[in-house]
Amino acid sequence: MTIIAPSLLSADFLNLQRDVEHFNAAKDLWFHLDLMDGHYVPNLTFGKTVLKDLHKVTNHKLDAHLMVSNPQDYVEVLSDIGIHNFTFHWETVSHQDCLVREIKKLYPSVGISLNPATPIEMIPTYIFDHIDLLLIMSVNPGFGGQSFIDGVIDKIKKAKKIRDERNLNFHIQVDGGINDKNAPSLVAAGASILVAGSYIFNTTPSEYLRRVNSLR
Ligand code: DX5
Ligand code: ZN
Repeated sequence: MTIIAPSLLSADFLNLQRDVEHFNAAKDLWFHLDLMDGHYVPNLTFGKTVLKDLHKVTNHKLDAHLMVSNPQDYVEVLSDIGIHNFTFHWETVSHQDCLVREIKKLYPSVGISLNPATPIEMIPTYIFDHIDLLLIMSVNPGFGGQSFIDGVIDKIKKAKKIRDERNLNFHIQVDGGINDKNAPSLVAAGASILVAGSYIFNTTPSEYLRRVNSLR
C-alpha cells in the first residue's frame, strides 16, 4: 500500500489539532513536517514546540523533512519528540555518511533528500545500504503549491533500479506538486510514499480523507 504523507505546511496553523484529527481513521499515513530555517530555503515554518504538541494529538508517524543549512545541529535536539523519520538534504552537508549513522542511532528511520537538480549519481551506491528513505524533491524546496517538475520521474525510476539491483527496501518518497493526476505515474515509476500539501488541504476539512483516498 502506498503511504500518503499530508504535508502540514498547507494545513491551517490556527487549527492544527483539528486538521490533524481529521486523519485519525486513515491507514498507511504519515504526517510530513517541513522544517525550514529561512536560510537554506527562503521561508520559516515551525519548531520543536509545535512538533512536540503535534505528537500528543496523533498516532500517525511523524516524518521530519529538514530544509535547513545545518541539519546535524537538529539531530539530538529533536530526538525526544517521537519523530519516526528524519530526512536531511544531501546538498547541505559534507560528511553525509557520518550524519546518516548519527541519525540512525536516535531515530527508527533515516532519509536523504535530493533537490530536483541534484542527480542521483551524486550518491555513492553504498549509501543506499544504510538509509530507510530517499526523498526525491519534485519542486525546489521552500514553498507549497508549486508545479510538479516532470524531469524527476526518471530519477524515481533510477532509484527503483538501484533498490532492486541491491535487493534493498528503502522507501522512495516524492514531494512537491503531487495530485490525483500525476500520482499514478509516480507509483508506477517506483514511489512508495507520496507527500501532498496543497492537493489535500486546499478544500474543506471534511474532504481531506477523500483527497487522501483519491491519491491512492
Ligand atoms: C516544499 C515542501 C513540501 C510541500 C509540498 O518545500 O517540502 O513538503 O509542503 O506542498 P505541495 O504538495 O503543495 O507542493
Ligand atoms: Zn517536504
